[in-house]
Amino acid sequence: MRLSVQEPTRLSDSVLWDLQDKAYLSFGPSAWTEKSVPFYLTSAPLLARHFASLIAAYLSDSLQAGILDLNKPVYFLDIGAGAGRLCFQILRELESLLSHDSNLSSLGYVYIMSDIVESNLEAAEKNSYLRRYVEEGHLDFAYYNALETDVIKLRHSKKVLEPSKLENPMVAIATYLFDTIVQDLFKAEKGQVYEGRLALFADKVEKDISIDDPQIIQHLESEYSWQLIENLEDYYSHKALVNVLNEFKERYDLAHFLFPTGAFAVIERLHALSNGRCLLLAADQGGEPKHKRKTCLPALSLHSTFSLPVDYEIVEIFLKNMGGACLLAPEYDKSFVVSASVLSEKEKYPQLLRTFDQTVSYFEVVHYWYCCNELEKHLEVKNPSLHHLYLLLKQGNWDPSVFHMFYTCVEKQWGEASEDDIFLFEEALEKIWQRHFPLSKDDAYLPLNMGVLMFHVKRFDSAYRFFQRAAEIDSEFALAWHYQGLAALRLMRLSESQRCLKQAQNLDPSLIPTKST
Ligand SMILES: C[S@@+](CC[C@H](N)C(=O)[O-])C[C@H]1O[C@@H](n2cnc3c(N)ncnc32)[C@H](O)[C@@H]1O
Repeated sequence: MRLSVQEPTRLSDSVLWDLQDKAYLSFGPSAWTEKSVPFYLTSAPLLARHFASLIAAYLSDSLQAGILDLNKPVYFLDIGAGAGRLCFQILRELESLLSHDSNLSSLGYVYIMSDIVESNLEAAEKNSYLRRYVEEGHLDFAYYNALETDVIKLRHSKKVLEPSKLENPMVAIATYLFDTIVQDLFKAEKGQVYEGRLALFADKVEKDISIDDPQIIQHLESEYSWQLIENLEDYYSHKALVNVLNEFKERYDLAHFLFPTGAFAVIERLHALSNGRCLLLAADQGGEPKHKRKTCLPALSLHSTFSLPVDYEIVEIFLKNMGGACLLAPEYDKSFVVSASVLSEKEKYPQLLRTFDQTVSYFEVVHYWYCCNELEKHLEVKNPSLHHLYLLLKQGNWDPSVFHMFYTCVEKQWGEASEDDIFLFEEALEKIWQRHFPLSKDDAYLPLNMGVLMFHVKRFDSAYRFFQRAAEIDSEFALAWHYQGLAALRLMRLSESQRCLKQAQNLDPSLIPTKST
């Protein structure tokens, strides 16, 4: 049965946004572990490295321009931080980057993980991988609704950040945020602008799901219709938005385009908070390329939540109109757009421009992902050598997900690995491990697999540590205890070995050490 969920409605007034908020509030951290909300690209170590480099460059520029006081803290506000994996990756990159920078090494900085979902913040506060940063004063947490909150109250330090009162420039991080929050939709045709209206239907809905239940999102189907806007000048009370709309209308004879009103509101709020002294690092699913604007209608990406592409060409115009600038890679890949924006260009940012060119523009994170996927597709035909895989891992800044992706391929060749390969991988595994941020028990497989590799080449010390880490992530992981026991045996730690093997057998009685192991 086809159920009508919404009559044709202006996109920004759609029930979708309420459903979206409800979905994030009800899922909490399970959004990333069970509900398959995408987050691989936005928590990739390569993106974190790019972001950390851009932050350091922006701070150096600010110091050069005389607007950074080294005796006062700088705040990095991660808006809608979600699971916290990117936060972890950025903090560890920044730690080494800033400590090696003689001009910035004394600077105090606080990364603020913020969200509208209390249970996300609570999970991050309890996370043992983040604890060290909290204790060192480099990490704090805050409730922050990017569309509503004016005053930010930090939960640990009890500091309060108020508009126009920040003593230093700030950095905002917004990944998969602008494609999550409110937008409008328009069609420009022959000098006229039409408001896009969205009707929603749901097919194959189980009886007990009502139309205000977020579970309905994955069943939704959309239909668009168009209403001529008679008086464009009065469409938004905010003149800046009308200006952007007009400018975009002039550019195209026929175009459909999403208008990221939520992103604009967030940017204005950040402007007020920082007095225009803010670096905004964002990454989102991008809009259609220019040549497709004529025919393409924006597609809702439905998972257990949804997202809509963000038109960065429009974000760029908006920022320019307000006196700022938005850096984008030339011919950027629309499937994952990474941008760095300054909200006012009063001060110039030469190091930021150079760094953007050397990082984001030089090698987009999504291109690294394509390379990995392409290689994975051909594994049946040809296995890349261990050295090739080592280089692939290195290029991605030691990404644990990529190690996981190619583990079987490494394992297959491990018996014939040369001493050189073993030496390289031993180092690589440590680096990958340092970037591992487990979110669920399944993440215990990563250290287990690392341990297995080390065990087979008789690096029992190293193997033992990896098995121990696997058992720490999942204390009921029988294999982790089993291998830990075997590694302890090889290290002649007999009572420990017995304890671990017993623990393994209690969890899984079929696990009995044999001579071959
Ligand atoms: C798609 S997730 C992105 C999470 C994370 N930034 C990432 O890249 O994986 C969107 C996040 O934004 C949060 N969020 C939604 N609306 C928000 C708002 N108005 N203000 C702040 N955060 C919001 C959600 O709770 C969720 O954690």
